[in-house]
Amino acid sequence: MLDAEVNSDKRPRKLLLESYGCQMNFSDSEIVASILAKEGFSTTRDPEEADVVLLNTCAIRDNAEQRIRGRLDYLRSIKKRKPEMTIGVLGCMAERLREKLIEEEKLVDLVVGPDAYRDLPNLIDRVETGQKAVNVLLSREETYAEITPVRLNSNGITAFISIMRGCDNMCSFCVVPFTRGRERSREPETIVNEARDLFNQGYREVTLLGQNVDSYKWNFNSKGEITDPTKPTANFAQLLEMVALISPELRVRYSTSHPKDMTDEVLHVMAKYENICKYIHLPVQSGNSDVLKRMNRGYTREWYLDRIAAIRRIMPDCAISTDIITGFCGETEEEHADTLSLMAEVKYEMAFMFKYSERPKTLAERKFEDDVPEDVKGRRLLEVIDIQMKSAAERTKSHVGKVCRVLIEGVSKKSPDHYYGRNSQNIVVVFPKGENYKPGEYVDVLASDATSVTLIGQEVFIPQPANAGTINQH
Ligand code: SAH
Ligand code: SF4
Ligand code: F3S
Repeated sequence: MLDAEVNSDKRPRKLLLESYGCQMNFSDSEIVASILAKEGFSTTRDPEEADVVLLNTCAIRDNAEQRIRGRLDYLRSIKKRKPEMTIGVLGCMAERLREKLIEEEKLVDLVVGPDAYRDLPNLIDRVETGQKAVNVLLSREETYAEITPVRLNSNGITAFISIMRGCDNMCSFCVVPFTRGRERSREPETIVNEARDLFNQGYREVTLLGQNVDSYKWNFNSKGEITDPTKPTANFAQLLEMVALISPELRVRYSTSHPKDMTDEVLHVMAKYENICKYIHLPVQSGNSDVLKRMNRGYTREWYLDRIAAIRRIMPDCAISTDIITGFCGETEEEHADTLSLMAEVKYEMAFMFKYSERPKTLAERKFEDDVPEDVKGRRLLEVIDIQMKSAAERTKSHVGKVCRVLIEGVSKKSPDHYYGRNSQNIVVVFPKGENYKPGEYVDVLASDATSVTLIGQEVFIPQPANAGTINQH
């Protein structure tokens, strides 16, 4: 049974809940599991024994949706034999396609958008009486603030915490504002309490999640005015500090930063606390200012490089990762070359790289032609990947010969005699298990070798000063 209070009048049922897409979706699934645990649902991984199957879906690129359609085909074949099984689609594809999903995918019974999960018990009941059920209402307030997520597939060491929902940036290529609605922030106290509870349960790392964490604001309206003068306010830098202060033993990460909104204030808070990991995901999308303008990203190449310079100045040891789109509408060879040169200049530790995929209703779909041929998008993607592999290898190697602090996450998948964990820069570090440590503990590792994305090392003992605290004394 899932770890939550159960209404005693509810009969036990089995839930298969699969998540696709970004970390926000995986985090939402933990809220869904919590809501349904109270209804008597326990989870299963086997569709054959499930009473209800829910796919929490992604709509970011066409291939993300194709993958889900493939999975629905398979589930339908099971439902033919087992017609009492309920199949539901949640998340971004549910919000994008709405009733169409029921019309097109005949055997889908339930369609629920990201802001309507509290309604799931009712909707499932309705399906069980033989009706189809849809709720895709988006909300300006819903943050599921007080729902304690049921941690799914958890290692008991690292966890995600949603700090806000939705997105108000209309990047022209992006479907998220349509599928997730308006941006809203969650009350800081509920975030800090959730992080503290996790720490008390033995978790040692939390990742604060939002589409654009830098625009997190509590008790401010969209114009930046204080909503209620009698209550405290918070911006992202202050929230980050509140979470960092829970314990020096709790690591804090966050994702995603937006280059147009990332402030030096946040960087200074990161530099001040050892336990805020020195890693920033700062998606650039393109290295050319004209493309960035068409993408409606709100910054230029120069602005972005200034933000990179600020990170390097304030935290010389900070790792930086990015997202890149190749072949956006009208992208010329010269514009693409600017992306390559920017990547060569920044030398990212990591990058997520994609071919542009036109999405219905977005600004780009309405305004521009998707005119870069598929093979050109593909070739440009390979060039981007090639340069990224070189940077990643170089960045990883730069840690060889140095000692880093690693949070042990578990036994290496490749070798039962080794542990793996991550350093502050989010690089995976593998080292012999030894007798002294177990998962969930910190260990200092001397990196002696590296593959392109992994460090290999040996634990070392570093005596800690008696009064070692979290604050770096710069
Ligand atoms: N909020 C984050 C991005 C969320 S989507 C940000 O602003 O950076 C994750 C990534 O998917 C984006 O950064 C972008 O690189 C990619 N992406 C989004 N829409 C896309 C599209 N239509 N085609 C290809 N890649 C896309
Ligand atoms: Fe999409 Fe832009 Fe919002 Fe990111 S910031 S989710 S890319 S609209
Ligand atoms: Fe996909 Fe929705 Fe996340 S479209 S990337 S699951 S916000």
